[in-house]
Amino acid sequence: MRMSVIGCGYLGAVHAASMSELGHDVVGIDVDEQKVAALASGEAPFFEPGLGELLQRALASGRLRFSTDLADAHGNDVHFVAVGTPQKNGENAADLRYVDAAVEGLIPWLRPGDLVVGKSTVPVGTARRLAERIAKSGSGASLAWNPEFLREGFAIEDTLRPDRLVYGLAVDGGQAKAALDEVYAAALGAGTPLVVTDYETAELVKVAANAFLATKISFINAMAEVCEAAGADVTQLADAIGHDARIGRRFLNAGLGFGGGCLPKDIRAFMARAGELGADQALTFLREVDRINMRRRERAVDLAREMLGGSILGRRIAVLGLAFKPNSDDVRDSPALNVSAQLALQGAAVLCHDPKAIPNARKRFPELSYVDSIQEAVRDADAVMVLTEWDEYRDLDPHELGATVSQPIVIDGRNCLDATAWRDAGWRYRALGRPRDVRSMALV
Ligand code: UGA
Repeated sequence: MRMSVIGCGYLGAVHAASMSELGHDVVGIDVDEQKVAALASGEAPFFEPGLGELLQRALASGRLRFSTDLADAHGNDVHFVAVGTPQKNGENAADLRYVDAAVEGLIPWLRPGDLVVGKSTVPVGTARRLAERIAKSGSGASLAWNPEFLREGFAIEDTLRPDRLVYGLAVDGGQAKAALDEVYAAALGAGTPLVVTDYETAELVKVAANAFLATKISFINAMAEVCEAAGADVTQLADAIGHDARIGRRFLNAGLGFGGGCLPKDIRAFMARAGELGADQALTFLREVDRINMRRRERAVDLAREMLGGSILGRRIAVLGLAFKPNSDDVRDSPALNVSAQLALQGAAVLCHDPKAIPNARKRFPELSYVDSIQEAVRDADAVMVLTEWDEYRDLDPHELGATVSQPIVIDGRNCLDATAWRDAGWRYRALGRPRDVRSMALV
């Protein structure tokens, strides 16, 4: 199929390259000239495993190109809208200006029978409004809403082999369904479940999924708070309840909580939209989910203070990890970066390391100190804090590291280190939601 992808951020760039991999003829369009130039030369403008190779393959095949001009959408059959919907400044609601601008900009280039496909995460009601706008434009095009569930770090795999497809269609959306079936023929052929809904349900599926994931993480982090108070171990608790297939162990990792460009802003926009619809009471629990999540960051700072004898002022702290999760260079609402900034603002000398996220972190917090190697970060440190669970931190040798620090104190903000190994190597090990001593370890 011939298709356009408007917006070449995380979602759009991966979608454009993946669609071309599937054999479609794709033009990716973005207003950011630098981004378009990078993509056109086969360079991923952000870190995503496999994206560089996929882009180069797609560009070489001649089935993928990039442009800054919406006129290049003309002549394509399907137009994906994959622009960002960030949180509004000073408000919980989502900012729809980019979605609106993309659709407005596209309208003059639409032909009768074209299909505009919304992929961005939007407040429920947006699709119907945009469908009316397109209908009024007289272009003869129609609209479908096709939410995206890809995870950063697994974006290509999630796009090529999604765990489900959702089409939000108008009542007369037969043609739209046929077009989307052609777009996703490979996934459908492989048995991917398809759920066909109206616009509103499709929009809600997306935010409900993210709200559920956020709630699951905050649930286990609430358990972590109770475990800390009671001297219990949240990682063992998660393992034990996770064996119940109805609960499941995935997304039950207690620690610093969720961040990134999606979960935090999506639950806030969801609450704001429910309020507008008069259903705010239904989602007040999400306020608590947000609060539990933000409290974990404060707790990590408090734990550092506690372990450093009551004050972090002037103490040297090595921070390992700045990205909001491993295998990503994304620091949007990153719990790790938030904790690093709090430590620095409270007077600690913070040396930060991350395998990929330093350039993005430096843009947001230029006043923090960044180093290129773990060794540089930990040298003479009074405490080491692991705040993103990159494999290279999990694999650290606590004996080797112990020889370079000033004091062997480690705070495991992601419950990703082997507590016994670190304690056996002489470290004072503490983690969020786990006992301060080795009581529960001794039982094993
Ligand atoms: C999330 C959803 O998982 C995707 O399905 C969705 O498509 C995407 O948002 C989106 O709306 O675009 P992503 O933001 O890439 O994907 O990250 P997740 O893997 O969901 O992780 C979010 C945060 O939760 C991270 O900070 C991670 O460290 C944290 N997390 C995750 C935990 O603290 N504990 C867990 O057990 C799992």
